Amino acid sequence: MKFISESCKKNRRSLRGDIRVPGDKSISHRSIMLGAIAEGTTYISGFLEGEDALATLNSFKAMGVNIIGPYKGEVSVHGVGMNGLSSPKKPLYLGNSGTSVRLLAGLLSGQNFDTTLVGDDSLSVRPMGRVVDPLTLMGANISSKDGLLPLQIKGGDSLTGLNYHLPMASAQVKSAILLAGMYADGKTSITEPAPTRDHTERMLSGFGYTVEKNDSKISIFGGGKLRSCSIDVPADISSAAFFMVAASIVPGSDIVLRHVGINPTRTGVIDILKLMGADITVSNMKDVGGEPVGDIRIRYTELNGIEIPVNLVPLAIDEFPVILVAASFATGTTVLKGAEELRVKESDRIQAMVDGLNLIGVDIEGTADGAIVNGGLVNSQINELEVNSFHDHRIAMAFAVAGLRVESKLVINDCDNVATSFPNFTDLANSIGFAIRKE
Ligand code: S3P
Repeated sequence: MKFISESCKKNRRSLRGDIRVPGDKSISHRSIMLGAIAEGTTYISGFLEGEDALATLNSFKAMGVNIIGPYKGEVSVHGVGMNGLSSPKKPLYLGNSGTSVRLLAGLLSGQNFDTTLVGDDSLSVRPMGRVVDPLTLMGANISSKDGLLPLQIKGGDSLTGLNYHLPMASAQVKSAILLAGMYADGKTSITEPAPTRDHTERMLSGFGYTVEKNDSKISIFGGGKLRSCSIDVPADISSAAFFMVAASIVPGSDIVLRHVGINPTRTGVIDILKLMGADITVSNMKDVGGEPVGDIRIRYTELNGIEIPVNLVPLAIDEFPVILVAASFATGTTVLKGAEELRVKESDRIQAMVDGLNLIGVDIEGTADGAIVNGGLVNSQINELEVNSFHDHRIAMAFAVAGLRVESKLVINDCDNVATSFPNFTDLANSIGFAIRKE
């Protein structure tokens, strides 16, 4: 499926609206995983009905968990307790979802049955050694095919606690080790090179499982239990980011995004856009089940290029495709460094953005760990431009935002995977003033 963006000059209007984007993907995955192994029924609202979170949900159904829903974002998970999962009849297919496969690798290493984890073409070339290595050190019997899927996990081996220094800033790897740590003897500690999203730690506490945090060291003891709870999933800041940038680059725009998760390990995009001069205000801040949320208002104002502070990179890791779009329409140069992890996401996001932005006339150059963007686009006289999304949801949506400022019609190829994180993207975008159709 393609997106045809006709938001170009002839249709251009300011973006206006008061909307709520779908539920947070990271929190949705974790709500199913922890709900499934808790005692009692966990009630979830605001669940993301996107393909990635559904891949997690279906895996637990395949392991014998009774899950009702989702229906309008509501899910009830009838927990089976720490050792109540049963062996799935076939390999678990996790589609495009790195979070599902890596977190499940940790959780399934502690079970007494065997599992095989597989995924789509993109997931099948993403690095799995980063979870296989520490889990093997804990005593798990887990193997990959040269560091890639499929992962084969042989159950029944006992795990022992580990003291591990994460070689890269990755919440998925940290979470995989924490989940395995619940099944290990003794204490498991992880030291992070930089803070990463802490939804697993927060949610474990919400389920009554103690997690200790001392500076960059996070520790958990094996042998505990989870107590079911209610979870209100906030709107996903990573989905909201597309509209934050959109309103910041289309003159006259003024939009409000409701009930967005503003966990400080996720708000790098707000900090970066503010450093670029964006007009963003956050109000109605409150705590919802251990996660902070707020309403975000964005009004158009001209952006400036900046050197993106390296400490903000892990806190905005999924937002760089659209941040590079913001930089493309800013005045001056933006430099991104320390973001080599972008090369191993759903696509090589540095290359994907450099290719597409070059094509539409942006002066951008990729580097090993980032990019240099000279803002200000030289608009092409061609009526129709075509870019590739490389089947990557965030690349597709980032180009839909770029389409608001190119003068031509913009065709974005291979957009099906937008359904992994933001199934109603085009409807919601069109409701605030985009002009995108699917073909
Ligand atoms: C995620 C962690 C991040 C992020 C991904 C979701 C999570 O991945 O990019 O979209 O839910 O833990 P890494 O752990 O690879 O940085």
